[in-house]
Amino acid sequence: MNDPATPADTLRTALADLVDGLPPRQAAQAVERLIANYRGATPTDAPILRDRADVVAYAAYRMPATFAAVRSALTAFADAVPGWVPGSHVDVGGGTGAATWAVSATWGGVRPVTVLDWAEPALALGREIAAAHPALRDVRWQRSRIGAALTVESTDLVTVSYVLNELTGADRTALVDAAASAARAVVIVEAGTPDGYARVIEARDRLISAGFQVAAPCPHSAACPIVPGTDWCHFAARVSRSSLHRQVKGGSLAYEDEKFSYVAATRLPVDPAPSRVVRRPQIRKGQVLLDLCEPDEQLRRRTVTKRHGDLYKAARDADWGDPWPPPEANQPGQ
Ligand SMILES: C[S@@+](CC[C@H](N)C(=O)[O-])C[C@H]1O[C@@H](n2cnc3c(N)ncnc32)[C@H](O)[C@@H]1O
Repeated sequence: MNDPATPADTLRTALADLVDGLPPRQAAQAVERLIANYRGATPTDAPILRDRADVVAYAAYRMPATFAAVRSALTAFADAVPGWVPGSHVDVGGGTGAATWAVSATWGGVRPVTVLDWAEPALALGREIAAAHPALRDVRWQRSRIGAALTVESTDLVTVSYVLNELTGADRTALVDAAASAARAVVIVEAGTPDGYARVIEARDRLISAGFQVAAPCPHSAACPIVPGTDWCHFAARVSRSSLHRQVKGGSLAYEDEKFSYVAATRLPVDPAPSRVVRRPQIRKGQVLLDLCEPDEQLRRRTVTKRHGDLYKAARDADWGDPWPPPEANQPGQ
C-alpha cells in the first residue's frame, strides 16, 4: 500500500501543475517582475500582487520557501506546547496560503481557517491550490486590509508570515495588537535578515507586554541577549528547488536554504527549549562546537567532546535551530 501524500508533497505537486500550465518564458518573466517589485519601496499603498501572473509567480517561486520556514517555526512551537492542537486558525496577510498548509502539515485534522489579505488575486489562487488538500477545502479566503481598522476574529492560532516587512510601523503595531487580542498563540515569521530580525523582536516585545510568553525559539521570555546591530537571530529551512527556480536563478543545486527569523508566543502554559542552537554546529575532530542561546539570557559556545558519550553523539546530529540538549539525550556535565 502506498503511503498517503503529506501536505508538503501535495503542495509541491499542486505548484508544479500550476507552472506546467505556463509557457516557461512567461513564468520566468513574471518571477523577474515580482523580484523587481519586491526590491522597490515597501510598504506600498496598493497590493504588489496585482494579477494572476504575479500570484502564480509568487506561489511557484516563493511559496515552497515560506511554507518550509513557517513549518519549521511551527514544529519548534509545537514542541514547546506538547499535546496542544489549535482548534482554529487565522492567517493574516496569508496571500496564497503558505502558512495554512504549514499549520495543516504540523497538526493534522480539519479546523476552521480564515486567510486575510488585501490582494484578491492571491486569495483566488490560494483557494485554487487549497482544493488539492481535503483539510483546506473549507478555508475562508477573505479580503481585508491590515491597518488601524483591522479586526481579527477570536481564534486559537494567528500566523503572520513574511508580512511585517510590507507594513508601516503603525500598521505593524496594529497587526500585532489585533493578533494578541484575538489569539491564544501567535506565530510570526520574517526573512532571516537583520531587518527581519528587528521586526520580529519588535513584535516579540509587544506580545510579551500583552501577557504572552515566548514558546520558541527563545528559551525564555526575557530580553534577547543580542546587542542590536551586532548580530541577528535567524535559522534556515531546506527547500527543494523547482525547475522554475533553476530557470530563474541558474545553477544546478537541487535545494536551497531559506533563512528566516521567527517568534512563537502564547498564553498557553509553555515548555520552551532548555537552550537553542543558534548557528550551524561546527563539527571538528572529536568535538562539536555549539553556539547556544541559554535560559539565563546569555549566548554561549559550548564544546561537546567524545568524553560526553551519548551527548557527543547527539551533538553530532544537532542542527541549527534545534533545542539543546535534545529531550532523549542524557546530560552529564552539560
Ligand atoms: C510576501 S507575501 C506573504 C504571503 C504569505 N503569508 C506567505 O508567507 O507566503 C505578503 C502578503 O501580505 C499581503 N499584504 C501586504 N500588505 C498588506 C495590507 N496592508 N493588508 C493586507 N494584506 C497585506 C500581500 O498582499 C501579500 O499577500
